Amino acid sequence: MKLLWIVSGLTLSAVGIASFGRIIDKPKIEKPKSEKDALKVASLKPISKLKVPLVPTYASHVAPILLEQCASCHRPGEVAPFSLLTYADAKKRSQQIAQVVETGYMPPWKAAPDYGSFCGERRLSDEQKQILKNWANTGEKSGVLSKSPALPKFPVGWAKGTPDVVFEPSTTYALKADGADVYRNFVVPTSYTEDRYVSAIEVRPGNRAIVHHVIAYLDTQGRARKLDAQDKEPGYSTFGGVGFTPSGALGGWAPGNETPFLPKGVGIFLPKGADIVLQVHYHTSGKPETDKTKIGVYFCKDAVDKQVRILPLIGGLWIPPGKADFKTGGTSTIKSDVTLLNVTPHMHLLGRDMKVRAITPDEKEIPLVHVPDWDFNWQTTYTFKEPIKVPAGTKVKMTALYDNSTSNPRNPSSPPKQVTWGESTTDEMCIAFVSYTVDSEHLLKGEKAQGFKNFGEKQSK
Ligand code: HEC
Repeated sequence: MKLLWIVSGLTLSAVGIASFGRIIDKPKIEKPKSEKDALKVASLKPISKLKVPLVPTYASHVAPILLEQCASCHRPGEVAPFSLLTYADAKKRSQQIAQVVETGYMPPWKAAPDYGSFCGERRLSDEQKQILKNWANTGEKSGVLSKSPALPKFPVGWAKGTPDVVFEPSTTYALKADGADVYRNFVVPTSYTEDRYVSAIEVRPGNRAIVHHVIAYLDTQGRARKLDAQDKEPGYSTFGGVGFTPSGALGGWAPGNETPFLPKGVGIFLPKGADIVLQVHYHTSGKPETDKTKIGVYFCKDAVDKQVRILPLIGGLWIPPGKADFKTGGTSTIKSDVTLLNVTPHMHLLGRDMKVRAITPDEKEIPLVHVPDWDFNWQTTYTFKEPIKVPAGTKVKMTALYDNSTSNPRNPSSPPKQVTWGESTTDEMCIAFVSYTVDSEHLLKGEKAQGFKNFGEKQSK
């Protein structure tokens, strides 16, 4: 599940946060882990059985890595700009491949290796990197190509199986050939007359050449419909948020980041009558394109005992122009025993680093996620490999770092300007969403967790 519940400005803070915690104005920022610490952790990793041949071949050594780790995006019709399915594909770019895996640029996975562990982690082992490097430097031997592994069975249709229901915008959207990225919000009514629980969603981009990522928000108050009505084209445009504080979210999609079904008995609340606001982030492709992205919804099959709740951790923002290391963050104390499921960091273009951790009442630090090289283009919900149980009194802390200097190549303002909260490209956000369930909640026994706000019930606006 991917929950990216973007607040519009600080509207959320007034009511929304009151029940979760509070905004911290002067957070204590911890220094990032030193390189030495990181190396210490790396050397504790179990020694891989993979042997690194001095002269690897494509068929025996390289193809298994590329097909398993790269082909999900590097194949026709997918998000990456070229395929890596054949010997010829790989040979043509061998040096570049060695380089991007060495630097960690590919496969794209932004979470630091020494901090938390996640479902669907995309990471090459040191041995795999060395194989690609040796191959590039020893003449890209083919080996016996007929013995290369078969192409993986890429999912055609829905990877999670046929959804219970498929929602899509009523009309196709036409994207211009060039220019800046577009964030388009399409309003899709659900029209259910009773509340439901969702276990997972799957997003099917209509046109993978231009769809970069998708988030399905919820609106129970018709606010998205109003914004849609003011715009002549299908949907309406924003940046980062949806133009108001949404009633919730069902999840999202980014290339290669399919999120799993929720644990049995756990569901996301879908209030009756809610509209899905499907936010699609488009990259222009150089030619006019069209898209109609679909979302498949899988309802909970088992009775739901616990509802997914969201803890938003928010940092105050007032970033002076030229400041290269603006630090902020937020802390929330959890009042009950809870189980943490996933975390979604969110910043815009000046964001450089975000770390989220839980500190138990006995001062034990539980790493949740650290994104040391934030990239707005790779928004990810990090689902913990195992749900993490933490006791009442645990503090969840988020710290973040921003670079508003001219040396940040992503700085959208030249010269840099004073930056605060907002939805536009030149504004910033500082928020991490932690999804969790309350251990004492047993909806099946009629025991609903008290003092926790539910999406779609009482809204903050
Ligand atoms: C989740 C999707 C995804 C996966 C998995 C992935 N790539 Fe990429 N790759 C992309 C996208 C998108 C781009 C183009 C945009 C960019 O450069 O960020 C790209 C670009 C590249 C480039 C060009 C970089 C440049 O500087 O222009 C190389 C080389 C590359 N990938 C190699 C790999 C290799 C090798 C793997 C596997 C070890 C891999 N990729 C896995 C999505 C992916």
